[in-house]
Amino acid sequence: MKKRILSGITPSGSALHIGNYFGAVKPQIELQNDNETYYFVADLHALTTVQDKAGLEKNITNVILDYLALGLDPQKCVFFRQSDVPAHSQMMVVLGNYVTLGHMQRMHAYKDKLQKGVTVDAVNMGLFNYPILMAADILLYKPEFIPVGEDQRQHVEITRDMAESFNKKYGNVLVLPEPMISKEVGRIVGTDGSRKMSKSLGNVISIFEDEEVIHKQIMGCYTDPNRKKATDPGRVEGNPVFVFHDLINDDKNEVADLKQRYGKGQVGDVEVKERLFEAHKRLFSKARQTRKALERDQEALRAILRDGANKASRVANATLEEVYSSIGIINSLNK
Ligand code: ADP
Ligand code: TRP
Repeated sequence: MKKRILSGITPSGSALHIGNYFGAVKPQIELQNDNETYYFVADLHALTTVQDKAGLEKNITNVILDYLALGLDPQKCVFFRQSDVPAHSQMMVVLGNYVTLGHMQRMHAYKDKLQKGVTVDAVNMGLFNYPILMAADILLYKPEFIPVGEDQRQHVEITRDMAESFNKKYGNVLVLPEPMISKEVGRIVGTDGSRKMSKSLGNVISIFEDEEVIHKQIMGCYTDPNRKKATDPGRVEGNPVFVFHDLINDDKNEVADLKQRYGKGQVGDVEVKERLFEAHKRLFSKARQTRKALERDQEALRAILRDGANKASRVANATLEEVYSSIGIINSLNK
């Protein structure tokens, strides 16, 4: 049975790393094969953090290129920009009436700001209202599942609450979505071997950076600190280099062989890392080429987004009309 699935990607500016890829992008893209998928670039959401014109435009283009290069197929899923579908902003205005200030004050993103020392008076309303725009993004499409990271669970929950509160007053108009959060790859370790791989921690293996940069990231990866020489038996379990081999390397025999030799002290760290670099090239070289080609074809990109916006608008506007009719706003849209 095909499920309707929706997710948004904020163009916040960080270049994709393998943690993003295995934790979020790959599972999202795989879902396009057997489901009805809606994926969009949440450009209006990015305004809470990106407030320079050139920077925002660049981030948006980068996200679009990354996703298309990694296999998002606009023939299989509806891929669009949030700002291309005005119904998102219109729906947000309505939904704000079905959530309380008290509830909004319990949202993590807002509370985190306060904890970082920002005073209530200085929190921008875009950030405070972020969950309402996200609820609008979701509810317009009546999706069953929302594939997101653990950090977004609370936002899907408040979306359900808004839908429930709306439905209680007006009947079963909105569909309550479920978050879809992967347990196994929810937290990929960084090259420092201890913390979550994250752009802001500088412990990443990138996907689209220059090869020299990626080589350096891989060669700098933490391994077994107790191993002084290549002839010392090394620890495979929990060693980030092998975590990455398991994720990236398509040659499973090679991985098994390297692990065995590593455990016996028959292979050096440098060779293990060089093999990882080769595996990275095998896995991502096609995506890297595709990205370069797409970058040169701006017209094709515009056509993809135009088509996505048309398809998304049809679904979103139908729900908006239904919502307006339910609440008693009968206007030129739904008369
Ligand atoms: P970063 O921490 O590098 O800034 P983001 O917060 O922009 O990454 O995350 C974008 C998406 O990638 C989210 O869905 C998040 O859950 C996922 N993600 C980020 N880092 C990891 C990781 N180390 N392991 C698994 N998933 C991750
Ligand atoms: N807030 C999400 C994030 O930062 C992005 C997002 C915006 C989203 N609207 C959405 C995700 C709707 C799922 C559904 O990752």
